[in-house]
Amino acid sequence: MTSTPVHMLPLPDFMALCRERVQGNLKRSLESLPGPATRLREAMLHASLLGGKRVRPVLAYASACAVGGSLEDADVAACAAELVHCYSLVHDDLPAMDDDDLRRGQPTVHIAFDEATAILAGDALQALAFRLLSEPDVQLASAATRLRMINLLAGAAGFEGMVSGQSVDFEAMGRSLNLQQLQTMHSLKTGALIRASVLLGALATEKADAAQLAALERYAECIGLAFQVQDDILDVTADTVTLGKTQGADQALNKPTYVSLLGLDAATTKARDLCEGAQAALSPFDERADALRGIARYIVERGH
Ligand code: IPE
Ligand code: IPE
Ligand code: MG
Ligand code: MG
Ligand code: MG
Repeated sequence: MTSTPVHMLPLPDFMALCRERVQGNLKRSLESLPGPATRLREAMLHASLLGGKRVRPVLAYASACAVGGSLEDADVAACAAELVHCYSLVHDDLPAMDDDDLRRGQPTVHIAFDEATAILAGDALQALAFRLLSEPDVQLASAATRLRMINLLAGAAGFEGMVSGQSVDFEAMGRSLNLQQLQTMHSLKTGALIRASVLLGALATEKADAAQLAALERYAECIGLAFQVQDDILDVTADTVTLGKTQGADQALNKPTYVSLLGLDAATTKARDLCEGAQAALSPFDERADALRGIARYIVERGH
């Protein structure tokens, strides 16, 4: 029986396949952690198995395909990126940060459990990401490549990336930022992990050359920023049920966003321009990068 090569699948089918894969891998990883079914484990399951668009795993898989790799090559990269993302959402929603009570259509972890459990669940999810990347007995790239992947993800998650972006976000509350500062904040808090997801998927295959990685990096920088611009837009234009998180949360906290700074039309134009930039960055790739091309469009056209 012949089956369609994954890069030829229509984007919704490709995304569904990737989501199913990462869901299974996350579930297995969390359930196989040694130890009893504690409240902490329940909180980790709540944070990572209940919905989410899985954009970062889909990107890791699509990037692996673009350089001629398989979905299997990118399984661990996809899982690790999503674990760091899920941790970041749990902490982002805490009362000390955005103080949100709804996430992915469910009560946030600190509401469903308690604040201390939410902090610890986030910590443990992040640690698990690095544990998986360094696990000796999984089928994955060479030790040197794994080290490169761990280094990349650690940089994207920490002071050089997401955490610093969150710190700028927190300090900017009620203040105004100029466009350059806003772009830096968005590129750090959201762009860094998206960039890492794209690069991790390609690195995991051990098939990408330096020029391909540089092109993927340019693509990822565009879509990483575009993703947060669209998130800002949706905070204004979508509704709570569709979003699965509280609409208007940015305005309620008086956060500087692309919409508050530029207005809705200019923010939409910015997102579209970034999508074009992402497409241009992919010009050295053949049709195996079509999923990446489609995801760039999806990121700026999505309704939630
Ligand atoms: C929300 O990310 C937080 C941002 C970085 C903007 P997503 O919109 O990817 O959230 P899920 O994973 O689909 O819930
Ligand atoms: C969150 O940005 C970025 C993270 C690092 C989690 P937001 O605060 O805008 O994300 P949402 O809107 O709550 O999902
Ligand atoms: Mg936030
Ligand atoms: Mg938030
Ligand atoms: Mg937001």
